[in-house]
Order: sequence, then structure tokens, then C-alpha cells
Amino acid sequence: MRVLSVVGARPNFMKLAPVDRELVKRGVEHVIVHTGQHYDHGMSTAFFEQLWIPTPDFHLGVGSGSHAQQTAAVMQRLESIVVELTPDLVLLYGSTNSTLAAALVAAKLQVRVGHVEAGLRSGDWTSAEEINDVLTDRLSELLFLPSRDAAEHLAAEGVPAERMHFVGNVMIDTLSWALPQALALDAATRYGVQGAPYAVVTLHQPGNVDDRAVLRELLDAIERLGRTLAVVFPVHPRTRQRIRTHGLRLPDGGRMRLLEPLGYLEMLGLVAGAALVVTDSGGLQDETSFLGVPCLTVRSSTERPITCTHGTNRLVLPKRDAVLAAAERALARRSPARPVIERWDGRAAERIARVVCEGERFELDAPPAAALPHGSPRRSSRFVAGVRLPRTVDGA
Ligand code: UD1
Repeated sequence: MRVLSVVGARPNFMKLAPVDRELVKRGVEHVIVHTGQHYDHGMSTAFFEQLWIPTPDFHLGVGSGSHAQQTAAVMQRLESIVVELTPDLVLLYGSTNSTLAAALVAAKLQVRVGHVEAGLRSGDWTSAEEINDVLTDRLSELLFLPSRDAAEHLAAEGVPAERMHFVGNVMIDTLSWALPQALALDAATRYGVQGAPYAVVTLHQPGNVDDRAVLRELLDAIERLGRTLAVVFPVHPRTRQRIRTHGLRLPDGGRMRLLEPLGYLEMLGLVAGAALVVTDSGGLQDETSFLGVPCLTVRSSTERPITCTHGTNRLVLPKRDAVLAAAERALARRSPARPVIERWDGRAAERIARVVCEGERFELDAPPAAALPHGSPRRSSRFVAGVRLPRTVDGA
């Protein structure tokens, strides 16, 4: 059996790593295509090295550009590879432009598509990831769900249950595999924040960094947060560019550590030891929930509501005072118990490989009692455009 995986951006790589290992273990010919959407060493090669992902068989070199340019370039350069290799399945990961572009190419060539991390919905149609997710799911025959709520979204869109496989969260496979190595790096000491509580901050979503006023509020909040505790802030290239073009300045102060984007292990080591994470990333919401680290997600909606209902995540609007007040509350509420989320058990990739290779099914039967952790916060929810969201967004 020949499976072709297409990845392009940082969050895709973490999801590919455990799936590659499980497929290869079963004798699958696994061809990896890197679109080149991310290309800096710290955004790409570092992940392949640290996560033991083989060097890609093909590199499309598309680089940066507008959404249309990026999507079109992947489509044009990928098509001939799919035609030549005639894979049995094209596997795609997450919600990047590379994901959608590859789904379009494969589906139109009538090659089966599998989507890892299917069914995530924020209900926010201004988000490129939402558009990419909805369309990729629509074009996919095998939908690999990270959490039970994903099935509700897919069912609401008319996707038949036979296509859904509740396999769990592959990001947690990677995290569990890498955590001992990450802790051994002692990243806190390496970045000068050992011995006292510290926060880790990441920002890159267009909604937070493209608008000058919003970005200014957030940079101000980060700088003030740095007066209370040390702050490690690996700055995404997009954010650095926007700070420059908007004529703003990076947050300053003695306890602020501004860094280039970090490798997976360094970042995981830092996050695992953090008192608080402030972010707009998708993956960090999952990772902090698994690790039991309080997380503030600077967005008005999330495609990962389970991290709010069962995990450590809270949403906060991009306003300085709202972020600071939410940070104070989050620091005070840290629980010693880690949340337990159903099928976030380090075996999601194994289940995916069993579906692909052995035709197994992982159905959404009734939730076992053990899936609802004792004492887990069962916050009430509301529905927005068919999407279950936590009731509270701080700062609203
Ligand atoms: C992309 C994904 C997003 C994911 C994020 C993780 C889409 C629509 N967005 O957003 O889902 O959360 O990756 O980082 O696919 N740049 C560099 N070096 C690089 C890569 C990018 O300097 O290696 C700069 C370029 O100026 C580029 C900008 O960052 O224009 C944005 O990169 P892009 O891949 O378009 O989107 P991200 O914001 O990274």
C-alpha cells in the first residue's frame, strides 16, 4: 500500500511524526511531500530532526504568499506527483493552506483523502483555518477525529457516521513521545527563567497581529505581564514583521526573554514548566490542557472547545486589561491534577494506521463513564452556528 502525506507548516509536522512511524511499522510505502509553506530552519527542519521524521521525498518550495498564491502553488506543483505515484490514499493534517490545496488536488484526481484532526470548528468564517477545515473534511473519505465533539460538527454538515473514526489526538502522541527528551533539555535554565514562575507567550494569528491597535494592546499586556513574572516570548516571523511595519516595538523589561521561533522540544520543555501560557495557537491549547498548565487563548472562539470544558484553556479578548485580569485568575487556579480527555492517550496514530491498513473502525459509541474525569469542570455551553463554545470569553 502506498500512502502519500502532504505537510507544509509547523503544526502539520507534529501530527505527521507519529503517523509516519505507525505506517512504516506496518510496511506501508509512506511518501512524504513538504510543500515548503514554512521554510525557516526553526519553523521546519528543526521539527523534522527532533521528531525523527524522514527527509521529505518531495519538496515543493512554495514559500510565502497570499492565500490564493500559496494554495494555487501547492496545487500546481503537487498534481503531477499524485498523477505519477497514484497513491492509495493521500493523508492530510490540520487546517493549513497546504492541507486544503492537497485535498483539492487528490479529490479531483479521485484519490482517497484522509484528514487527521477532522471536524474541528470555531464557527468563525473570518478564519482561514475554518475554511480550510470545512472544505478538507468535505473532500475527505476518512475523517480522523481528535475529540468527540468533532462528530457533532460533521454530523451537522451531513457527513455520514461511516466516514468518522474517533481515534484521539495525534498531538498528544507526539507530546508523550517527546516529553522526556524535552524535560532533559532543561529549557528554563537555557533561556534564563529557571527557579521562579514564568509565562510563555506566542502570537501569530492575523486577527491579533495584522491590526495595529489590537497588536499594540497585546504587546502592552505582555510587557506588563513581564512586571509580575518572567515572560518567554518566541516571536513568530509574521508578528515580528507586523511590529516593524506598524512602527511598534517589542515588549521590553528585565524579565522579558524575546526569542526566535523555538524547536518542538525546547518549546515543549518550556511549556511543561510554565506557570501560564498566553497564546493564539491551536496546538498549544491541546498541549497545555494535557499538561495541566493554565492557558489563555487570545481569541473570541476556539475550534477546540474541549480544552475549555475539560482542559485548562480559557478564551480572552485581545484587550490589555482583560488579558492581565485573566492572567491573574489563571495563575491562582492552577490545579495539581492533570485533566483526562477521552482518547488523548498517545495511541491516536496507531488507531489511524489500523483504520488505513486493517480497515478497522473506531466508532463513536456512548461515552464511557471514565471519559468524564472526576471533578472536571463541566462548564455550560452555548451553540453558535452549530458550534459548541464555552459560555465565557473573558473581556467580552
Ligand atoms: C500558518 C497556518 C496556521 C498555523 C501557522 C503556524 C495557514 C492559513 N495558516 O500560519 O494555521 O497555525 O502556520 O505557524 O495555513 N514566514 C517566515 N518564515 C517561515 C514561514 C513564514 O518568515 O518559515 C513569514 C512569512 O512572512 C509569511 C508569514 O510568516 O508570509 C506567514 O506565514 P504563513 O505560512 O502564510 O502563515 P502563518 O501565519 O505561519
